[in-house]
Amino acid sequence: MSATAGERNWWKNAVIYEVYPRSFQDTNGDGIGDLNGITERLDYLKDLGVDAIWLTPVYPSPQVDFGYDISNYRDIDPQYGTLADFDRLVAEAGKRHIRVIMDMVMNHTSDRHEWFLQSRSSRDNPYRDWYMWHDGKGQTATSKGEPPNNWQSLFGHSAWQWDETTRQYYYHKFYIQQPDLNWHNPAVHEAFKQIMAFWLKRGVGGFRFDAITALFEDPSMADEGVVLDKNGKPEINAYGDPQLDDSKTDNQPGVHAVIAEMRAEADKFDGSAFPGARVMIGETYLPNIGELRKMYGTPRQPEFELPMDTQVAFINKLDVAAFRQRLTDAELRLGTHTPLLLFDNHDNPRIAARYGDGVHDMDIQRVIATILLASRGSALMYYGDEIGMKTTLPKRKEDVKDPIGITGWPKEKGRDGERTPMQWDGSANAGFTTGTPWLQVPGSAETVNVKAEERDPDSLFAWYKELIRLKKTVPAFEDGANIMLDAENTKVLSWMRQAPGTPQVVVSVNFTAQPQTVNLAIGGAGIGPRKLKTLLKTPGAADPVALNRIELGPYGVYIGEVQ
Ligand code: NOJ
Repeated sequence: MSATAGERNWWKNAVIYEVYPRSFQDTNGDGIGDLNGITERLDYLKDLGVDAIWLTPVYPSPQVDFGYDISNYRDIDPQYGTLADFDRLVAEAGKRHIRVIMDMVMNHTSDRHEWFLQSRSSRDNPYRDWYMWHDGKGQTATSKGEPPNNWQSLFGHSAWQWDETTRQYYYHKFYIQQPDLNWHNPAVHEAFKQIMAFWLKRGVGGFRFDAITALFEDPSMADEGVVLDKNGKPEINAYGDPQLDDSKTDNQPGVHAVIAEMRAEADKFDGSAFPGARVMIGETYLPNIGELRKMYGTPRQPEFELPMDTQVAFINKLDVAAFRQRLTDAELRLGTHTPLLLFDNHDNPRIAARYGDGVHDMDIQRVIATILLASRGSALMYYGDEIGMKTTLPKRKEDVKDPIGITGWPKEKGRDGERTPMQWDGSANAGFTTGTPWLQVPGSAETVNVKAEERDPDSLFAWYKELIRLKKTVPAFEDGANIMLDAENTKVLSWMRQAPGTPQVVVSVNFTAQPQTVNLAIGGAGIGPRKLKTLLKTPGAADPVALNRIELGPYGVYIGEVQ
């Protein structure tokens, strides 16, 4: 069956919802979310309007990094269910036109993966060269010497681990239990092509490629530079180590050829659940828009369809000029490609913790949701964003589950705070489990929960749902250009969506706690003082008279169609 253009391009104006399976819905009372729980909640996701769900890893894993340490890429961890449960999830999601996107972790495996067990067993094992083994500096027959260079794990301390059996160090960008694969070895490429095929044949809607920029290291093995503070002293990170510049271990040239190779492989499949293309999403933390542009590849060697735009996501303050600049970059500097906007994920404090002021957080979350969903491109949201779940950090070191928080305590409390159970209702465990939840349910669940917000037309949930509906139904929102308006304004961000033959739509968001009035009739795009039809506005706000006088309350939002 061949795909229609719409089916092929489903990811272009899509809403992709990240599920952290461990925390979404438990169905067997063990306090850990499972695949059947996700299946149970598909109607909720359908009602919200999402096109796809991305599951963080559900493969068998010792769970040191909660699934990002994979010991078998072709099965489901019993904690989450079985392959049959997975197939049922894909089939049920398919019935609701929701794609299931898998996490693809290619940078490293678990140290319990068969490949690594073989690799570490002897220097002449066929799998030896699948990982990054090196002699120590000054190593002798009796001494291990020093680690080969100063490279550090992103999770603290040296990235080199001594292994006594074969007397060499292995490299791990993440935890010690996550040895890095050697992408100079063609057998590693082949293995991952087969793994992708395994899941594509099961009908997955694509992959999110984890830590992709970490795939290669500089073959010179030279030390990385130390980042200096303004006094010229080494900056010290939360783990007490000098901060390195990542120049030899991140975004090295070889990565593009691998992404293109995987893309070519994925392009051979059309996914059996849907007669349409699957999508390749990249976890692409990059220093600038130019590097992000490269992640889309070239017409002859396409790479990701949707590398994440972390430029916009992590501005981390409501600075109008910075948002205007980066959204303009996303619009103008990615060629004809689709930006993938996001603000949140399982590795970072939630939206309110990074953008909130503690007083207007609800309205500020509306502001962020509007930028996410009313800008051109696809949108990636994180479970619980739609109800305004808050980051809730562990109070005591002994409660911390994420090893980063254990190594970095108290400066770095880890990522548990943004991984707390989904808040479905106001009951004791928020409807997440009948057992003891693996992470405590935050007290805020009493009021911040799906059940309460579904009933309230002014809730954040209602706001997200309406924004998603507009994204899907307003013609200018489909692929209309994103044009900044009132570009000197330092308090309000305004833009217009414009597509030939359809009404223009204007969006204004107030980045301040004071009321603001904007005049968009004089904007750079030169639209006159025309009338507006309101599509969405902050609850309680008045309708503007016309384009030359839009009044916004503190952190107010207005979306209107130009008449
Ligand atoms: C990025 C993932 O999002 C994060 O959770 C994980 O710890 C690292 N990659 C290592 O896989």
